[in-house]
Amino acid sequence: MTFIGVAVGLGNVWRFPYMVAAFGGGAFLLVYLVVLVLFGIPALMAELTIGRMTRSGPVGAFTSIGMPAGRPLGWALFATVFMAVSYYTVIVGWVLRYFLVAASGKIDAINPATFFDDLLAGLAGQFLMTAIVLVLVGAVLVMGIREGVERISKIGMPLLFVLLLVLIARSLTLPGAGAGLKFYLFPDFSRIDVGVVTAALGQVFFSLSLGGTFLVTYASYLPANTNLKTTAVSIGLGETLAAVLAGFVIVPAAVAFGLDLESGPSLTFITVPSIFGQMKGGSIFAALFFGLLFFAAFLSAVAAFEVLVTTAVDHLGWRRSKAVVVFCTASLLAGTLAMMSLDYMLTSDLFWGSTMQPVGSALTLAGLAWVIGLGKTLDAVNEGNEGRPVGKLWYYWIKYVIPVGIVVILALGLDDLFEVFFG
Ligand code: ALA
Repeated sequence: MTFIGVAVGLGNVWRFPYMVAAFGGGAFLLVYLVVLVLFGIPALMAELTIGRMTRSGPVGAFTSIGMPAGRPLGWALFATVFMAVSYYTVIVGWVLRYFLVAASGKIDAINPATFFDDLLAGLAGQFLMTAIVLVLVGAVLVMGIREGVERISKIGMPLLFVLLLVLIARSLTLPGAGAGLKFYLFPDFSRIDVGVVTAALGQVFFSLSLGGTFLVTYASYLPANTNLKTTAVSIGLGETLAAVLAGFVIVPAAVAFGLDLESGPSLTFITVPSIFGQMKGGSIFAALFFGLLFFAAFLSAVAAFEVLVTTAVDHLGWRRSKAVVVFCTASLLAGTLAMMSLDYMLTSDLFWGSTMQPVGSALTLAGLAWVIGLGKTLDAVNEGNEGRPVGKLWYYWIKYVIPVGIVVILALGLDDLFEVFFG
């Protein structure tokens, strides 16, 4: 549940629907599922393996397995987490703002499109919300109550799923939702091109928190008897269920409301309040929804900062409290760029989230397989697995197919990924 709490967040409810909408609906969904099974879950197993085996975060893990340039590589992935979390927390701040509006009973009184534009135009308001998020993240990390908060996810996560079901019922009964449902579920195969594959690849790696950082760090605390194969499959399933459900809420409704499907980061924030505006007791449901989404996103942000903080403590000799204050402050400052420009935020999301996370994972996988070798890698992944062991096919898959696949897909499709949004 902790891993699902870390993985489920804005990636599922905010990012997945905007990618589905922009990249052909069902065409994207289909490719997403294929990439998840072929790339995401095997990569997840490999990242968990390296974390548990080395018992450290990225910098320590790469150094201790003796990877060439392991230390600078670990720091490069550390920088990716920092850059990603600095815009991520701005969006968590938006969620907080929506939660506060909903909790004050006013969600059905707002005009979703102008409300969102006003939110973006207000730098001070965004700064304040993001600062609150960061203070809360910092408090959890300094007080050492991360595990306690994660335990709450055992209740929060299933509730979020239930609420998504309630929203699906409303979304699918909107006039015009049928066309949106068809767009979401029935792939138009002619839409599948390298841009869609690249978008799906980035989404899988972002959403699963792959990239040689989060999962490596969190897996370093896993006991030896944890079955990494079943853990990876469960994370993949929980993650995908949350994303697919969010898609059922947002994609048909966005089509029904006639929204611009290539609008990117704003899509969810305009669609969801529009749905609540059409519901009896909309504000109560909206408060619950944004409250739970806040919690899910907050857990993902805490995990990101945990990677930064433990790395600075272990490798720079910083005190934990110093690391928390430095990174939270730096993130707030770096995040102001995302507050000022939606284009900057989208570019960051496509670069750090969709590009650097797969690249980081490719390097991690190749490093593990090449440096550790077949026998040791299989022993490490199979420790604690009393069922059918993971075999050579997986080893060669993570050694050659996934890293080469990632490089080829990004080389061919990155232009198309940016072009859909920026024209
Ligand atoms: N994997 C995290 C999310 O989906 C970052 O929000």
